[in-house]
Amino acid sequence: MRTNLDQLKDEALTTIAGAGTPEVLEAARVHYLGRKGIFSQRMKELSQLATGKRKTTGQILNAAKNEVAAALKNKGQALKESRVGEGTWLDVTLPGKKPLTGHLHPITQTIYEIENIFHKLGFVRRRYPEVETDWYAFESLNMPQNHPARDEWETFYINDKTVITPHTSNGQVREMEQFGSPVRMINISRCGRRQSDLSHIPTFYQFEGLVVDQGINITHLKGTLDFFVREYFGKERAYRLRPTDFRFTEPSFEVDVTCGLCGGKGCRYCKAGWSELGGAGMVHPQVLKNGNLDPKNVAGFAFGWGVERVFMMRENLNIPDIRVLYQNDLRFLEQF
Ligand code: FA5
Repeated sequence: MRTNLDQLKDEALTTIAGAGTPEVLEAARVHYLGRKGIFSQRMKELSQLATGKRKTTGQILNAAKNEVAAALKNKGQALKESRVGEGTWLDVTLPGKKPLTGHLHPITQTIYEIENIFHKLGFVRRRYPEVETDWYAFESLNMPQNHPARDEWETFYINDKTVITPHTSNGQVREMEQFGSPVRMINISRCGRRQSDLSHIPTFYQFEGLVVDQGINITHLKGTLDFFVREYFGKERAYRLRPTDFRFTEPSFEVDVTCGLCGGKGCRYCKAGWSELGGAGMVHPQVLKNGNLDPKNVAGFAFGWGVERVFMMRENLNIPDIRVLYQNDLRFLEQF
């Protein structure tokens, strides 16, 4: 059953909670807890009660008084804090409030960095479809239906003729068709493959350079890669070209950089001290023809590298598993 004392306490707490200024709050304090306030009067009235009743009522009264006193204290503090900035009160010892500002994802930052480096060499940034026809992703690149070379790309098919592009090389023939020669483009886009392990993810970014013009030869390719490696990784870092076979370049190379995790000694992430960044080569004459260009007049080079891989291979980063990049763990992301 609610008693008079409960009602008194509730009334006091409601008045305190509603006090909008320190002056109103002080008036409430005097009214309830002042020397001539309501609680003092009730204390005095205790003496008129019988001994047993006096004790229990006294305990309830004291508890209610303490609760009202605590509410007054808290409200006083809250009013002080809310008035900071009005020029009335400032507690300079309070810890500051950090503004919640976000930043670009490290891979987006890397994409902009890559774009800027190639911009210095006159490359134009492009993006080509991520959902692509079989023709641009494979056939125009010398990989007919059922050719075993396609196996390397572990492709997601939307239907028989449409894929999620497994590489940015799908932009090669599109670029030539659209702009003819000369070409100097850097296509940075999202790709998909059915892969997931320490160095592979199903959705990743590649950057594809394509240069086509009269008199282009392999020294231009080598010079371009030299420039990129120096600008992005620094002068100290070594890279190597390993002969391989792509159906759309001849000759073809895999490009490796000394592993940034182990400094080239060999670790569980890399291949004996070298980490693969991507492929490169001289554009195959058939691909030039598919792009409506004449291989007797022009030649080209192309390269396609993984954005996540180059980011991870930066020295001192020590990211041993590529999948960490997309787990959206703020403890990781806030470091960049
Ligand atoms: C290609 O995709 C060729 N199109 C590259 C190329 C372009 C060669 C132009 C010649 C001329 P490759 O399958 O090796 O090649 O992939 C290139 C790079 O993409 C890899 O070295 C790696 O850095 C990155 N990559 C490939 N698959 C994944 C994946 N699942 N996760 C993260 N990065 C990947």
